[in-house]
Amino acid sequence: MKVIRTISELKQELSTLRNDGKSIGFVPTMGALHQGHASLVKRSVEENDVTAVSVFVNPTQFNDKNDLKNYPRNLQADCELLQSIGADIVFAPEVEEMYPEPDTRTFSFAPLDTVMEGGCRPGHFNGVAQIVSKLFYAVEPDKAYFGEKDFQQLAIIREMVKQLEIPVKIIGCPIVRENDGLALSSRNMLLSDEERQRALTISRSLFASLEYAKSHTLAETKAFVEDAINSTEGLQLEYYQIVDGNTLQEIAEWEDSDYVVGCIALFCGKIRLIDNIKYKEVE
Ligand code: PAF
Repeated sequence: MKVIRTISELKQELSTLRNDGKSIGFVPTMGALHQGHASLVKRSVEENDVTAVSVFVNPTQFNDKNDLKNYPRNLQADCELLQSIGADIVFAPEVEEMYPEPDTRTFSFAPLDTVMEGGCRPGHFNGVAQIVSKLFYAVEPDKAYFGEKDFQQLAIIREMVKQLEIPVKIIGCPIVRENDGLALSSRNMLLSDEERQRALTISRSLFASLEYAKSHTLAETKAFVEDAINSTEGLQLEYYQIVDGNTLQEIAEWEDSDYVVGCIALFCGKIRLIDNIKYKEVE
């Protein structure tokens, strides 16, 4: 496995492989890797000749300076994990390499980016689009892998490659959970034991709501999850929205869509967590 720091070296390495007819899979990450990331990398290794993984904490997608400062970083542990699961290239640039000048591009993915995370984290998706497009231009992957935990991000990346006409196949991969249900997240390592225990209410209420939804209206189901979160000390709900999985717009009745996803964001102490659950999915 090669660790590469510059775009020019990355392009050179990949163009040789591409000229040899190798297919390239790509997993963009911000490091602090866990088994959720590993599942994306393993899928890429299965489906491509070469797998490149980027590890870069992208400053332009953080609207909260403290969140950026506290974001966990551990390149050595990341590389050990990546090596053990068969990644071929790790691209770990410095900020100056990705942003030699400020990126002034502004994107509009409306209405996908005006709701949920878009409302709570102004500029977040613009920053995600800046870095992911730069990485796609550098790597030119055949396929790129993203986790469904960041459900809105995945929809926006699909829209971005359409708008920018980037020829890459975007693959969404299922959420990976701990045995007790907590969705894996790099931020989980910032939770105290007590906070982690409280955070279990998220997945528990989402899964319980699947059953509840069978005999209740959409509004009642939404309230069911909201009540569970609001009645747990230490959790502060930002939103729970039940949306059409393609447009990300809230729906009023179960019948309004055949792809229905509940998306949640909340603070557990000072740590912001997101999760989601599918009530209905198109085959
Ligand atoms: O999902 C993430 O970890 C980040 O938003 C991404 C896609 C790597 C861009 O920085």
